[in-house]
Amino acid sequence: MKTSEKEFFLTTPIYYVNDVPHIGHAYTTIAADVVARYKRIAGYEVFLLTGTDEHGQKVLQAAQALGVPPQEHVDKLHCRFKELWTKLNISNDDFIRTTEERHKFLVQNILQKLFDRKEIYKDSYEGWYCMPDERFWTEKDLVNGSCPECGRKVDRIQEHNYFFKMGQYQNWLKEHIRSNDKFIQPLARRNEVLGFLEKPLGDLCISRPKERLPWGIPLPFDQDYVTYVWFDALINYISAHGSLDDIKKTGFWPANHHLLGKDILTTHAVYWSTMLKAIGLEPALNLFAHGWWTVNGQKISKSVGNVVEPNQLVDQFGVDAIRYFLLREVPFGMDGDFSHKALIGRINSDLANNLGNLLNRTINMIKRYHDKVVPEPTSPNEDANLKNEFRNGIDSVHKLYDDLAYNKILERIWLLVDITNKYIDTNGPWNLVKSEDGKQRLSTVMYNAAECLRSISLLIYPFMPQSANTMMKQLGIETSIEEQGLDSLKTWGGIKPGTVVQPGSQLFPRIEDNEVEKILSAIESSADKNEQESLITKKEGICDQMLIDDFMKIDLRTGKIIEAEKVKKSKKLLKLKVDIGSEVRQVVAGIAECYEPDQLINRTIIIVANLKPVTLMGVESQGMLLAASDNGKIILAGFDSEPDKGIRVR
Ligand code: MSP
Repeated sequence: MKTSEKEFFLTTPIYYVNDVPHIGHAYTTIAADVVARYKRIAGYEVFLLTGTDEHGQKVLQAAQALGVPPQEHVDKLHCRFKELWTKLNISNDDFIRTTEERHKFLVQNILQKLFDRKEIYKDSYEGWYCMPDERFWTEKDLVNGSCPECGRKVDRIQEHNYFFKMGQYQNWLKEHIRSNDKFIQPLARRNEVLGFLEKPLGDLCISRPKERLPWGIPLPFDQDYVTYVWFDALINYISAHGSLDDIKKTGFWPANHHLLGKDILTTHAVYWSTMLKAIGLEPALNLFAHGWWTVNGQKISKSVGNVVEPNQLVDQFGVDAIRYFLLREVPFGMDGDFSHKALIGRINSDLANNLGNLLNRTINMIKRYHDKVVPEPTSPNEDANLKNEFRNGIDSVHKLYDDLAYNKILERIWLLVDITNKYIDTNGPWNLVKSEDGKQRLSTVMYNAAECLRSISLLIYPFMPQSANTMMKQLGIETSIEEQGLDSLKTWGGIKPGTVVQPGSQLFPRIEDNEVEKILSAIESSADKNEQESLITKKEGICDQMLIDDFMKIDLRTGKIIEAEKVKKSKKLLKLKVDIGSEVRQVVAGIAECYEPDQLINRTIIIVANLKPVTLMGVESQGMLLAASDNGKIILAGFDSEPDKGIRVR
């Protein structure tokens, strides 16, 4: 449970690894990244989680079609998401994959607990099954005899399966939604879920027979079945933190926001909340269901061939323009239609004309009138109106974050951009410079304009981190945005007189009319299906590989264990004193279930010597030892013959 109000956990959905990453996926992830960055500079300890959903029928079928084992297939495919997040400057703290051991372990652990508590039972089931969606439907759910979700044909299936007793939590869930206004946002979606809960809530089928679908996490109590993908996937929000006990200790639960698309609200609001209730954890504080992007009014799909490829958008327009556009154009929660023309329009007006010009002319005037040096304001008490506008603007921005009203936040920041532009126009530095009296005023005006730009760059940082850093650099401010923090906006005057500005290139160059056609046709031709396919599927899965230089940064050393004892109240942890030649390190290791302390004395091991110390169960650990974990059995790494202490291992 939250140990203080300063931990902040937010998540994106984990994306189907088979899908082609498109602007819809990028949208949720950028939205989450903006909040994560904002909260970090507001002083929170943030955990931003994203990842990939890697089990299920579709993945298996795709792997079979390529003739590769499904694990190999997902190892390769998940990179497309990882690499895209790097390109989009996403600052995720973890990337979870549902085929990882840590995740499979927790899913099975939860299943076993619920089974032992009789929250899961076996029953025979007959219903209509949609193979692509991997979901059962009742007769009355069907629309014209087809799947109500995707419209495809359904099969009549009768089989034995396992069920989670979801129905028993219906009244609790209704009450929870009713008494927590912000649990589900926007309001219209909250009402939809309440409407859904007016009908009786059945139990949830959480297994699939292995003979029909072998690619999934086996049920720990019946090896003939695997876990239903949704029951598996939702647990990622916890498994990224370790076990159920771990999550309680981290301070990151309940999650502050689960961001998701409107299509997966029921699975989160109903399945996930009731699962958490059964597990004994609180639901997330907020589920925010955003709308869908279409392209020319059509659903984005590989088969329609209208996938807007985010990598290509970034190459063409720059990462910050994309991040800005997606969140500025459409209120979060509503649907929106994507068009390159609208994107170019925003780049030219909001970014190049308004913000870009403001930076450019301010820096140039400080260069011209003050020899690049931010002047001392001669009358620091003047311009109360301007300062008030900023104070109010900053307060409104803080409040708007509570409701994830991204487009309003950006509108509000751009109002400050306009106010600053107007302030410059009204004061006319180009006239002030002409007289001695004017020059007095000029120093105050140029100082204030520079301070306005510092505030604006802090405010745009969550949305456009790269541009915000460039703005700070041009303003000559060396302290990073993270270090300045949002608190530095509480008082006017963060930029120090005497700072030397660094005129640079245009922040957002205008896209001229004669270039627009060229860009649009380049995009059109590369939107050619074959090219898209090659962009997307031929990429090798190399995102988990690292360069030798990175490996060399890890300081592995030999060390001799000179003391060992159990950590109080822990079944797994041992506290070791390890002599690494130059010093003795205290290392806490999770090996107590496989090694007795006495057995370890005088043993030579390998430790990672340059890890930042961490505290485990109240004991500081100044390194990590290397060991193999073979189906739960831990075996320490060692040598054929005894090396000395403190020798580098490569
Ligand atoms: N794997 C599940 C989520 C499991 S979370 C425990 C899934 N994956 S998905 O890849 O199909 O979709 C992930 C997210 O992308 C969803 O929130 C979905 O709404 C979003 N989008 C997919 N296409 C979209 C648009 N065209 N527009 C906006 N978002 C859309 O569902």
